[in-house]
Amino acid sequence: MLERAQAEMLDYQGTGMSVMEISHRSAAFIDIAEAAEADLRELLNVPDDYHVLFLQGGATVQFSAVPLNLLGERTVADYVETGSWSTKAIKEARRYCEVNVVATAKNSDFDRVPPQCQWRLSEDAAYLHICSNETIGGVQFHEVPKASTTLVADMSSDILSRPIDVTKFGLIYAGAQKNIGPAGLTVVIVRSDLVGNAREGIPSMLDYAVQAESGSMSNTPPTYAWYLAGLVFQWLKEQGGLEGIAAQNARKANRLYTTIDASNFYHSPVAPEARSDMNVPFMLPDPALDAQFLDRAATAGLLGLKGHRSVGGMRASLYNAVPMEAIDALIGFMNEFQREHG
Ligand SMILES: Cc1ncc(COP(=O)(O)O)c(C=O)c1O
Repeated sequence: MLERAQAEMLDYQGTGMSVMEISHRSAAFIDIAEAAEADLRELLNVPDDYHVLFLQGGATVQFSAVPLNLLGERTVADYVETGSWSTKAIKEARRYCEVNVVATAKNSDFDRVPPQCQWRLSEDAAYLHICSNETIGGVQFHEVPKASTTLVADMSSDILSRPIDVTKFGLIYAGAQKNIGPAGLTVVIVRSDLVGNAREGIPSMLDYAVQAESGSMSNTPPTYAWYLAGLVFQWLKEQGGLEGIAAQNARKANRLYTTIDASNFYHSPVAPEARSDMNVPFMLPDPALDAQFLDRAATAGLLGLKGHRSVGGMRASLYNAVPMEAIDALIGFMNEFQREHG
């Protein structure tokens, strides 16, 4: 997909211009935008009564846009706290409404999804918010929770990694930079009956009704990112769609977790039933070995393994673009490091 972008970079389909140079109102770009939306709808099986928006500002802007658009007359929103990203979403929502944290795994260092039977839901919440995959902690929902109110999910780090039933959600949002395309693009999928009740005074760029009305072109959209996302959607269709990519992702994650669990050296800090197929944090027996592990891994061409500073240890991210060979190389290296230090 990057090679295709490279080949088309200076001359997009005979226009003599790069996609970066053509107007977002040109027929060529409208074709790109519409094809990307159609492919995303096909991949996720998005029903017609949902808008698909291609926005800017990252998932963080959605932490505000969600309450500003969905609260309506209500004053309470329910949030499940499973790690750093849901904590950030909660903090931002508190600027606009009363947040009821229905369940939190904070007391066990965010090592699990609290069981739904323990959630203390409000009677009158405007919506229930989850982060389907906590990127830093590696905690993932493997079932869609049952909600009697509108279910909202931050899917920034697991969208397009597996099939989902969009109809179970009122709103899904995701920063693009994991499984969609370059940072700067944010995808929002929202049921149309939820659009049009934004809080008065909301910046118009955050109002889903304004964005839906203008086809996500209230201002100049991130055209090149949108085009690259479209190429990724085409690539995903070639992988057998989300069923195909999910099977690959499960194989990758299983192989790595099996290695960790079989070792008496490495360990996973996450409860088995909540382990993420996208982000696999793992710990060495002594944090004093971390720097050496990372140095040696880098020499072996294995990069980006340092765990987030808030949790330490290691984290292997297995997004859609990571091939099985990379997992095998990592496992080979982990086994060798264990032999030397175990
Ligand atoms: C689950 C999740 N939510 C939200 C964010 C914030 O996204 P952005 O940096 O696009 O605002 C991230 C970023 O990595 C994330 O992983």
